Amino acid sequence: MRLVFGFAALLGVDFLQLLVPGILKRGIDALSNHTVTRAYLLELSLLILLIAAVVALLRFFWRTLIIGFSRLLEKELRERLFVHLVHMDQPFFGRWSTGSLMAHAGNDLSAIQMACGMGMVAAADALVMSTAAVCFMLVIDIRLTLLALLPLPLLALSTKILSKKMHVHFSRVQEKFGQLTEFSRNALVSIRLIKGYCLEGLQEQEFARIGQQYVRSNLRVAVIQGLLHPMAMLTGNVGMVLILYFGGRQVIAGRITLGDFVAFMTYLTMLIWPMMAIGWVANLAQRGLTSLRRIGALLQEQPVLTGGRGIIKSGADVPTIRCKQLHFSYPGRRHPALCNLTLQFTSGVYGITGRAGSGKSTLCRLIARLYPVKKGMLYVDGMDVNQLSIASVRAGISFVGQQVSLFEDSVYKNICFGRPDADQKQVKEAAKAAAIHDYISHLPDGYNSLVGERGVKFSGGQRQRIALARALLSNRPILIIDDGLSALDVATEQQVFEHIYQQYHDRLILLVSHRVNLLARADKIIMLDQGKIVAACAHKQMYAANNLYKIMVDKQQGHA
Ligand SMILES: Nc1ncnc2c1ncn2[C@@H]1O[C@H](COP(=O)(O)OP(=O)(O)O)[C@@H](O)[C@H]1O
Ligand SMILES: [Mg+2]
Repeated sequence: MRLVFGFAALLGVDFLQLLVPGILKRGIDALSNHTVTRAYLLELSLLILLIAAVVALLRFFWRTLIIGFSRLLEKELRERLFVHLVHMDQPFFGRWSTGSLMAHAGNDLSAIQMACGMGMVAAADALVMSTAAVCFMLVIDIRLTLLALLPLPLLALSTKILSKKMHVHFSRVQEKFGQLTEFSRNALVSIRLIKGYCLEGLQEQEFARIGQQYVRSNLRVAVIQGLLHPMAMLTGNVGMVLILYFGGRQVIAGRITLGDFVAFMTYLTMLIWPMMAIGWVANLAQRGLTSLRRIGALLQEQPVLTGGRGIIKSGADVPTIRCKQLHFSYPGRRHPALCNLTLQFTSGVYGITGRAGSGKSTLCRLIARLYPVKKGMLYVDGMDVNQLSIASVRAGISFVGQQVSLFEDSVYKNICFGRPDADQKQVKEAAKAAAIHDYISHLPDGYNSLVGERGVKFSGGQRQRIALARALLSNRPILIIDDGLSALDVATEQQVFEHIYQQYHDRLILLVSHRVNLLARADKIIMLDQGKIVAACAHKQMYAANNLYKIMVDKQQGHA
């Protein structure tokens, strides 16, 4: 509806504008005939003024209506893209970098918006305006029209070529700008690393180098932009010269009136902008289409991780998780991360240990349904996980990962993220259990303290404890802690786990750790190596039977 009104207003503007030369013609003809009166002149002037006022009003309408429409369209697309991305799975984010996704969301969406907004407007405007102006000109004099139009196609063509060039350079400008932003973002995020290695100078040089490239591309754009306008003017003026000479002769010969002559000139100046617009619009549309295709391809991507409709039977109780010859490779990797794991988890504490890269995190991720698992390899409550809805599996799991993710918000909000309806008392209890309450309450702003971008205002161990408090608060039957408390000192860690073991004795706890004193309390320890189970038994048997474990224990207890 907006569009219809918008285009109606646009047509109105064009039509009214085309009336003006006609009025001028009448005035001038009257002047040259000496039949003019003051009242007639005033009448014509007022008429032009009125038209100008209406044109201004209609212009305002079409601009707000059509540009508004393109903004709405952009919003719609942006939201669809966001929702789509939020629903994508881990393998997808392994393929797409954050930077390229952000570029899509920024550049492509604005290119589509431009094509649908200004592009459509200019196309309609140019088309209506030029055909109508040419028609009016033809009515006045056919030969003169053809003559005057001679240089115009040249203008359209050169605009097309130039704006295409401009597009190429402009994309480069955007690309360089992206690099510049990404570079400074990266540098600021890892500022401590840069300072630690005294790399400020190197960063400075690199930044200047990209900045130089950015300026160079920008200058190229400026050159082309600088060329476009004078060229249009020149073409218009050449047309003008042709009309002045040949049209003037027609006037002398009495074939057309002086008024016709002036009207003709005015129509010609009205043609310059549409001619430029045609070239410009062609490129705008092309850009818009390319972007639309790219966004379309992104929207077509489907998560490979799909679940069924099933719901876990045990509900709030601990489900039985069974791995049956569980085999898994990351996309694009030749070596499997997990080989033929056969295991069963019920309530209790399971310690998972093994060297770096042995597959501990992968096992946790598969159980949490972050990566797809083939049929017949992983069962929850006797059902293949592929038959269960992903949400139903995940809703039973609290996950504290190796890398803690905190939001740029208050500590309080970060803790109750998994359970927004929790009250203050529950939040504080969770923080106490994670041994972070005392620290938070001594902060000047207490629980309202901001954690900073990715939690920079807290130490690694404090971040881990905030993440643990979040997991404990969400209070789910399964708690997975993937090396999640590695940055804690031994005494605090011991205290936290004492609490967890007591409070969660009826749940299922999967604890990835190297700390022997924690593993010793587990009901069962699973040792992985190169994706395979080396041993799975309690501490005592493990100590007696497994040499690797024995060495680990002796080393750590020797230190303690
Ligand atoms: N996202 C990933 N993409 C590809 N390979 C991965 C990914 N994550 C881990 N791997 C590989 O899988 C293997 C097991 O990794 P992981 O489970 O993280 O080990 P651990 O947690 O025991 O240190 C390693 O060889 C690692 O390189
Ligand atoms: Mg790991």
